[in-house]
Amino acid sequence: MKKQMALLMTAAMVASLSACGGSSSSSSTTAAASGESTAAASEAASQGAAAGGAVENKDKPVVWFNRQPSNSSTGELDMTALNFNKDTYYVGFDATQGAELQGEMVKDYIEKNADTIDRNGDGIIGYVLAIGDVGHNDSVARTRGVRKALGTGVEKDGAIDSSPAGTNADGSSAVVQDGTLEVGGKSFKVRELASQEMKNSAGATWDAATAGNAIGTWASSLGDQIDIVVSNNDGMGMAMFNAWSESEKVPTFGYDANSDAVAAIANGYGGTISQHTDVQAYLTLRVLRNALDGVDIDTGIGTADDAGNKLPDDSYKYVADERSYYALNVAVTADNYQDFTDATKTMEDVSKQLDASTHPTKKVWLDIYNAADNFLGSTYQPLLQKYDDLLNLDVEYIGGDGQTESNITNRLGNPGQYDAFAINMVKTDNAASYTSLLSQ
Ligand code: BGC
Ligand code: CA
Repeated sequence: MKKQMALLMTAAMVASLSACGGSSSSSSTTAAASGESTAAASEAASQGAAAGGAVENKDKPVVWFNRQPSNSSTGELDMTALNFNKDTYYVGFDATQGAELQGEMVKDYIEKNADTIDRNGDGIIGYVLAIGDVGHNDSVARTRGVRKALGTGVEKDGAIDSSPAGTNADGSSAVVQDGTLEVGGKSFKVRELASQEMKNSAGATWDAATAGNAIGTWASSLGDQIDIVVSNNDGMGMAMFNAWSESEKVPTFGYDANSDAVAAIANGYGGTISQHTDVQAYLTLRVLRNALDGVDIDTGIGTADDAGNKLPDDSYKYVADERSYYALNVAVTADNYQDFTDATKTMEDVSKQLDASTHPTKKVWLDIYNAADNFLGSTYQPLLQKYDDLLNLDVEYIGGDGQTESNITNRLGNPGQYDAFAINMVKTDNAASYTSLLSQ
């Protein structure tokens, strides 16, 4: 019922959009052809061009998203990049809150299934962990979140060590330790039997195919010692589920709430975390829209805009010192997955079309660091493409190979053609490769 309403609304929005000649930008990849579909749009575009022409590239709005400018070894934020100019922001989600939620979700599952969880009955609950990218703070946080909840973490320099353990069948690894869980009067040991970074030979991280192979290797050496599979994301989680855990009926937990993973909960996927991509995709484009309109940055975010768009207060937070917006996460399990089956549905609270006469079409350059990334490709980008229409932004989407920054920066050869930039880096240390192009 709810879904039908949403579909109807989408159809109505599409109809009203074409009627008023709004941007037809969604999947535009050719800069020249866009913004000229109707008289209204080209008028809007020429206003944009006039404004854009006067603004130097270094002063144009920039939003970093999904990979926060930071030191990939220490996680320290790159404040130079975050303060590139007065209209620079980061949009992501609360990595620690989400990671702790993921750990708690796994722990709850164990507690609820204490009778059956220990497959070989040796008193040890064994899990394996797929790590996305050891230099990405979201990945680091998720590894820590799981180890924290299950008691398998070891402190290092004041935080839980997030290094991969390799194989740890006998519990002798120095990177993790055995935890203890008391459930229903029984005491179990919890052991991280194996974990590794899922990086392919070409260097792509968060690599689903690598995870699909790894589970085969782990299963053949660890067999029914494996009671649970955990992954830093759904792309890798689903690869392991499809290759092994579904048929073995071993609960598998991921992160992102991609549509395929949510659907798999009906078939035994243990659960996932929604990082509220509907909020993130909106914020990514909204901060640019606001900066381009020269209005308060909170417009359409914490304060309703002229169309009535406003985010629910409990869906995000803004940390001024970090120039960062963070969406809040929600656990998706067998109890509530029905509400999350379409990961690409925009949030109703912020789905009202902006008026093109007061919010004229502007051109945005936006890259996705890895065109093959399951989350960014199947969840984030489809949402961006819906919001760009609603916000009258003509977005050129660039897809990277996930490995080489220059593959993307090479396609930012002419920043003068755009009014604003949305950047998803291959490596979080590399912000200067982009800002230097804007500063020339
Ligand atoms: C997502 C991963 C994704 C990564 C890419 C994370 O926030 O959870 O699925 O691969 O971003 O940067
Ligand atoms: Ca066991």
